[in-house]
Formats: sequence, structure tokens, C-alpha cells
Amino acid sequence: MPDLQPGINNGQPVIIVGAGHSGVAVAAGLRTRGWVGGILLLDGEKETPYERPPLSKELLKSGAPDESTVLRKEKFYQDKRIERLAGITAEAIDRQSRTVVLSDGSRRGYDRLVVATGSRARPLTVPGSGLPGVHALRTREDALDLKRALVAGTRVAIIGAGYIGLEVAAAAAARGCKVTVLELQDRVMSRVTSEPVSRFFEQLHEQNGIRFVFGAAVTAIEGQRRAERVVTADGTVHPADVVLAGIGVLPNQEVATEAGLECRDGILVDGEGRTSDSAIYATGDVTRFASPVDGTSQRLECIQNAQAQADRVAAHITGQQPAEPEIPWFWTVQHGVRLQTAGVRHPDDDVIVRGTPAVGKFAVIYLRDGRLAAVDTVAGLADFRPAKKLIAAGALIDPALAADPRIPLTDTIPNDPSLTDADLVSARI
Ligand code: NAI
Repeated sequence: MPDLQPGINNGQPVIIVGAGHSGVAVAAGLRTRGWVGGILLLDGEKETPYERPPLSKELLKSGAPDESTVLRKEKFYQDKRIERLAGITAEAIDRQSRTVVLSDGSRRGYDRLVVATGSRARPLTVPGSGLPGVHALRTREDALDLKRALVAGTRVAIIGAGYIGLEVAAAAAARGCKVTVLELQDRVMSRVTSEPVSRFFEQLHEQNGIRFVFGAAVTAIEGQRRAERVVTADGTVHPADVVLAGIGVLPNQEVATEAGLECRDGILVDGEGRTSDSAIYATGDVTRFASPVDGTSQRLECIQNAQAQADRVAAHITGQQPAEPEIPWFWTVQHGVRLQTAGVRHPDDDVIVRGTPAVGKFAVIYLRDGRLAAVDTVAGLADFRPAKKLIAAGALIDPALAADPRIPLTDTIPNDPSLTDADLVSARI
């Protein structure tokens, strides 16, 4: 096989496996960037590709319509000559012949292949996990199943106090359910945020009638014909009619692993989204890559990353320059309070609280070696945009100034003659 040159169409289509945010963004990006060759989008689900964030928020609200927001209308795929095969997955990749074996038994050749298979809910594996009444939430179908089960008065046990668990807890409580959240760690959202933010959201949920059990290791789900209770390692029994597991995700990397692509809890990709095979790219939740900030290996489960990687891949395939990527950012809404995060915090970052959590609106900034690495904003976005720019510039921050929320973040840069031009530019945004 000759090596493929960027921007050259060798006759076969670009095949994109997966029609989530990232897969659809690759297809759209290729057309925007002038790719005239074929595009085949394999969509494991049957309906028009849709947005996932509303599934654990708006869709679950009482009285909310069951329809999801589509990523692109059907007409878009027709107008842009994107052949979308609904309900069809890639079963195998034959890298030698550059062919994909589809779940309907057919084979399709590719010029370039993009694996955008996303992630799936990490399954519960304790006895009783398969009982009716035990839910996960990843697809629209999962969300609608759960919505039907969240009837007022229902006892809901949620396993995992991450984004999914907490958003569903808020929706369930608003629908009149009695909610208990069982979390392995000692605070909520410990993967993504610091103690002050965790405690704020814990209290917010408690004020809305939600009960937490921390350090809870679930050992079994029991019931006659359906889930009736959750048992934890200390022997406590938590009665429940509905159980939701929100215990993280696993990358859907199997088709890549079997094809011999390098994978390690995610398909390994470089800065252009290329895998260990130069004709195959990967984008979105399924990828693992070196952080451009500090080189640490990461998997980023967020829409910003799904779209940024899609743009890089579309740019590389068409031989063009990608857009400058945004700093990764994330958001969640619980009981109407929005937590919005920019950057990726490390557990050993210095934590500075701006404002008073007790008044319901504050921010937390994270400093690494004195430089701004991440920010959490709670119920207010004043610090969000400046923080993104300061993170991108690697700006030094004076921790004493930053602790005063009346001082704009851009005025917390120390007056230090050793500052680089980039630091100074960032300071004057
Ligand atoms: P997560 O990683 O955010 O949270 C999982 C939680 O489950 C953690 O707190 C963890 O300590 C806990 N846990 C793990 N195993 C456990 C066990 N055996 N028993 C009890 N607790 C256990 O993952 P989550 O909430 O499932 O979200 C899944 C995906 O959905 C992620 O990719 C997330 O980024 C995405 N998502 C993002 C949203 C957002 O950005 N707002 C909203 C909803 C989902």
C-alpha cells in the first residue's frame, strides 16, 4: 500500500465509524474544507444523530417532549452527499486491503478511516445488575426508558455521584422521586472537581431532598423479579424501585484493538488525530492522546474535544491547517445551578476559592506551578472567558489577588519583570 498524501483523494471514500458529536463533525468538516470524495458515515443507532447533553437534563424533565435535538437535519446529509448507514456498525477493519466489514455482512473500501466510536456506560457487574429496573444512561433510548421509570414517589438509588448520577438525581427529585446516591469516594464529582465545589453541590442536592451515602461499595442488587434493593459492603440495605448506574464510561475501542491499532484505555492518537496506522484516524471520547499543555496522557470526555479533534482530522485529510483548538471545557446543570469548567485540573493543583460558596455563586481556580491551569465557575460565568485565555497563555496568577473576587482575573497577574511577552499579552486581554 502506498502512503496516502494529505489532500489527495485516491478514489475510495472516507469512512467514519460512529455518528456521535465527533463522527458527524468530521463529516461536516470534510465538506466545509472542500473534500469532494465520498463520505460514508456508519451510525450504530437508527435515528438521526442527536445531541447527548440534554439526555440527562432537559429530556428527563416532567412534561418535556421526548424528541431529542438532532445534530444536523436529515437534509444536511443529503445535501452534503454524506451516505449515512443507520443501524450499521463496523465489525472489523482489514488494514491490508483498506476495507471495513460492516454488520450487514458487506465490505466497503476506504481511503481514510476515522474511528469515532465514542464510549459506553461502564457496566455494573455485581450480582443482580441485570434485573429489570436497573438502568444505565448513554443513548436516547436509555434516557426515555429511565424517564418512564421516574414516577413520583418512586425510590431511586443512584450509583455514582458523577455528572450523570447528579444530573439524574436532580431530575428525579424534581419529578417527586425519593433519591439516594451511593458514591464510592468521599465526595461528589471527585474525578472532575475540588472539595469546595463538591461540598457546595452536595449541600445543594441535600436541600432538594437527596440523600448521599459516601464510601459506598455496592455488592449486590436484589429483588424477586426486578430490582427492590441495593446492598453495600457494610451490609446496609437501600430499598429501591429504580437503580441507575452512572459509574463512568469505557472507550469503544474493540474494533481498533482487533485491527492491531495501538490502544491503552483509548485508541492512541497524535496531535493530528492519527492512529498507529497512517490511513486511520480516531476522534472523540474513544481516543487517548498527550495533553498539549503538559504532555500527560489523557482521554477527554467532552464535546469541545470531540469537535476539536474532528476539525484536526478533517484538516489533515484535506491537507489544510486546523483551527486553533479551544481550551477543553465542560458544563453541568444540577437543580438549575450551572457548573462550568475550563481546563483540566490535577488533584495536586493549588486551589483558590473566589467568592463565598454560601451565597450560591463563586469560582475556584487551579494553579499549577503558579500558572492558571483550570477554573470552575458556579452560577456565574464572569471568570470563564478570561480564564480560558489565561489558561491558553499559561499566565502566572498572584494567589492573594485571585482570592478576592472583586478583582477581575485579568488583574491578578503579578507585576513580575521576569514575565514573558505571552504572559503580559494574556494579562491585558
Ligand atoms: P463520571 O466519571 O463523571 O462519574 C462516575 C462516578 O461514579 C464517580 O464519582 C466515581 O467515583 C463513581 N463510581 C465509580 N464506580 C463506582 C461504584 N462501583 N460504586 C459507586 N460509585 C462509583 O462518569 P458518569 O457520571 O457516569 O458520566 C459518564 C460520561 O458522561 C462521562 O463521559 C461524562 O463526561 C459524560 N457526561 C458529561 C456531562 C457533562 O459534561 N455535563 C453530563 C453527563 C455525562
